[in-house]
Amino acid sequence: MRNLPIIALDFKSADEVHTFLNKFNEPLCVKIGMELFYQTGQALIKSIKKRGHDIFLDLKLHDIPNTVSKAMEGLARLDIDLVNVHAAGGIKMMEEAKKGLRKHNADIKIIAVTQLTSTTERQLHEEQNIQTSIEEAVLNYARLTKKAGLDGVVCSPLEAKMISKELGSDFLKVTPGIRPKGAARNDQQRITTPEEAKTLGSTHIVVGRPITQSEHPIDSYHKIKESWLS
Ligand code: C5P
Repeated sequence: MRNLPIIALDFKSADEVHTFLNKFNEPLCVKIGMELFYQTGQALIKSIKKRGHDIFLDLKLHDIPNTVSKAMEGLARLDIDLVNVHAAGGIKMMEEAKKGLRKHNADIKIIAVTQLTSTTERQLHEEQNIQTSIEEAVLNYARLTKKAGLDGVVCSPLEAKMISKELGSDFLKVTPGIRPKGAARNDQQRITTPEEAKTLGSTHIVVGRPITQSEHPIDSYHKIKESWLS
């Protein structure tokens, strides 16, 4: 995966995706989520790849180890660069996910979601019955992910620093919740700027609406890219 901001292509259809991508004349990193993938399947992946872009397929797999392994065998045949599972599935599930992926592909990176950034501490305590802070819960899942041999985690930039400190700077920290100064927060609670994310140890940032909903998407993207790479 190139070291570029990953644009979250949270559009409703393949047509909207291509209308957006037509504005750009350079290789990009993009994220395809489940809402788009379930509708458009492999055709969209192929057409985005044809344009020369790197793809993070954000499907967050979570099932029994055998099922996830078989699903990964299928995904390994797609021309993607990064894929993910839920760390809550456990070490065995993550190991099997990687094994499934490696049957057909040696290059796709695989990472795990720790706690969703939409999870509040109340939900963690009352619904998941995990009686720690969010940070502790995230660090625990990051440790399991590393133990399972995966390449890294999806987390908040605010958690990236402690994960880097314990699990190393090479362990991927792919971080959404990015907002340039002055941009609308939307529904994101714990945000940082691209510069802050870099300082905190994010290895990749995921940015959606500040680019996709911008009146000037190319300018917005380049500003974020410059801040991230500076
Ligand atoms: O538009 P925005 O920049 O908020 O988009 C962030 C993207 O990252 C969305 O696709 C969202 O689903 C995803 N994401 C997130 N928080 C997580 C995991 C994924 O915001 N913990």
